[in-house]
Amino acid sequence: MAWQRLGPGGIAGKHSLYLQRPSTVARIPLCSIPKRQFHTPGIYSLAGSRKYKGAGHIPQLNTPRQSYKPYFQSTFTQRLGLHTPSVKNGGVNLEPHGKFPRFWLRENCQCPDCIHPITRQRMLDTFSLPEDIQTESVDIRTENVSVKWSDGHDAVYPRSWLSDHKLPPALEPSQEVLNFRDFRFVSGNQGHPTVEYQDVMESTKGLANWLKEIVSYGYCMVRGVPLEPEATQGLLERIAFIRNTHYGGFWDFTSDLTYKDTAYTSESLGVHTDNTYFSDPARLQLFHLLSHTGGEGGESLLADGFRAAAVMRTENEANVKTLIDIPQPWHSSGNDDVCIQPYQPFPVFERDELSGVLQRIRWNNYDRAVKVDWEPHVAEQWYSAARHWNEILGREDIQIKMQLEPGTALIFDNWRILHGRTAFRGKRRMCGGYINNDDFISQYRLLNDGREKTLNNIGTLDARLTC
Ligand SMILES: [Fe+2]
Ligand SMILES: [Zn+2]
Repeated sequence: MAWQRLGPGGIAGKHSLYLQRPSTVARIPLCSIPKRQFHTPGIYSLAGSRKYKGAGHIPQLNTPRQSYKPYFQSTFTQRLGLHTPSVKNGGVNLEPHGKFPRFWLRENCQCPDCIHPITRQRMLDTFSLPEDIQTESVDIRTENVSVKWSDGHDAVYPRSWLSDHKLPPALEPSQEVLNFRDFRFVSGNQGHPTVEYQDVMESTKGLANWLKEIVSYGYCMVRGVPLEPEATQGLLERIAFIRNTHYGGFWDFTSDLTYKDTAYTSESLGVHTDNTYFSDPARLQLFHLLSHTGGEGGESLLADGFRAAAVMRTENEANVKTLIDIPQPWHSSGNDDVCIQPYQPFPVFERDELSGVLQRIRWNNYDRAVKVDWEPHVAEQWYSAARHWNEILGREDIQIKMQLEPGTALIFDNWRILHGRTAFRGKRRMCGGYINNDDFISQYRLLNDGREKTLNNIGTLDARLTC
């Protein structure tokens, strides 16, 4: 289940009541609802009504059922598909496609004069339009709905564009302290999600599938990677360009403390996310062990932060709230020429404000800086929540252990999966790199959803919460 209980609420249109549910919006014909409660379009709170479950379940309203009008009132003009739309409250009624804000609709004309057909950038000077622009006529019969506007412009809107840009029902902030998007996970060591290097390198389908596994499981193994750093670099570059940091771009190192960071030693490393010290931490990280000679150890540890946060929610919700509400300072200052800090302190859990869906985990106890802007009791509260979080991350059933082997690369979602390793002896040569969130998600969406759906979903709540 992606996200649940968005709070009691819904929106009532002229003919239907819309209720928000996990991943769908249920449309309930008004004829099946006691009339007096919903006689005008507007936003209604269903607070106090009983919980609604399953399509077609009507909230219990404490009024007797009354007579009702037919669900769809057919009129001559509607049958023809020609009507003078309503402009009340700034909205233009393009039923059955929906109701749209008036100025917004004019601004978002999809004709090639208003929006560049290649760059998809707005060509129209928004503020040259009269503020009180009105519709003169509407024709919804054609594949491209056409609207004649009072500035003389003949606007067009493809039906598919209109349905993808319908106003969502009014949503109320989630009552849950934390929610989760759809995700899958591996319990114990049941077998890791794995793809073949050749499939990723040689086909778009193989690449799309790889990215899907990463979004779904949070990590994925790639088998059959040639043992040269160049091949590993090429693998990462199938997704997007490699992110440069003060440690370089694509890295290839042995445990020699080249950079003054514990990651470059042979000591054990507790699970953490990387880049807590950046305003925008890298989304993906890939490791490929090229060789390990003269010793052993160095098992890789992963911990699924989504699962761990879900466990924490069931055990102590107040602790989850503390890790959302109290931001921390983070830094990277080991090398003499840098002292990197995010532009603001960030909490351990970042969530989508409206739905409460967990979007990013930032946890690296090595890189947490000294916080001073808090009251003593708030500090105590944070340490107690952090202790609980740290304890969950160390649990057997949360940690995924694996011995990396030359030829198999590991990639993971650094906004969700924490990584670490046990101590090792001998000499290890590892290579890998980071990929930014935006570049990864762009590639993921285009390959898995196609260009049209991706373009039509820009900025929607659905798009925000699916990866
Ligand atoms: Fe790391
Ligand atoms: Zn236009």
